[in-house]
Amino acid sequence: MTGRVLQIVPMGNPLLKESCKSVEDPLAVEIQSLIKDMETTVEYIGCSGLAAPQVLAPVRVVIFRVMKTTTNPAYQLTPEYDPEGVPWTIMINPKIMPLSEEITMGWEGCLSLPGLLGKVPRHHSIQYTYLNRQGEEETRIAHGFHARVVQHECDHLDGILYPQRIKNMADFGFKEEIIKQMERP
Ligand code: NI
Repeated sequence: MTGRVLQIVPMGNPLLKESCKSVEDPLAVEIQSLIKDMETTVEYIGCSGLAAPQVLAPVRVVIFRVMKTTTNPAYQLTPEYDPEGVPWTIMINPKIMPLSEEITMGWEGCLSLPGLLGKVPRHHSIQYTYLNRQGEEETRIAHGFHARVVQHECDHLDGILYPQRIKNMADFGFKEEIIKQMERP
């Protein structure tokens, strides 16, 4: 029933730079078992999202959630849009469409760059469409932090890691230090 905890590959691995293949059959045994393993992995780690290439599967599959609250002051959650957060969501072959020109800046981290954070520009509002684990199409609208997480995870499927999107490299550093600076009175 439960999957395996998969190893996350760090930045530098060539697979993280590749554009991933679309999933032809979401119900295929290997896709369903990858989904199960990714679910087990994110629950074990306690993170917010994971893309298949991070576990060496070069296919367009992502899992993410948006938490209701966080103790990390770097993450500017936007509960005005998702007061309850967003539950764990599996996306197969996701597609993003920006809904406006508005760009917001926010801190991001990534399991493939442990211990680091960077400030990244993202579309504030998007519409996204994906196949769920049953292979059915779903469409959602997202704003703020929810939109940011979706854009971050989908970037992985095109071989893009968040440092490639940082505008000012001065806004890149170690999480522990960035949080310490934020918490200073
Ligand atoms: Ni990531």
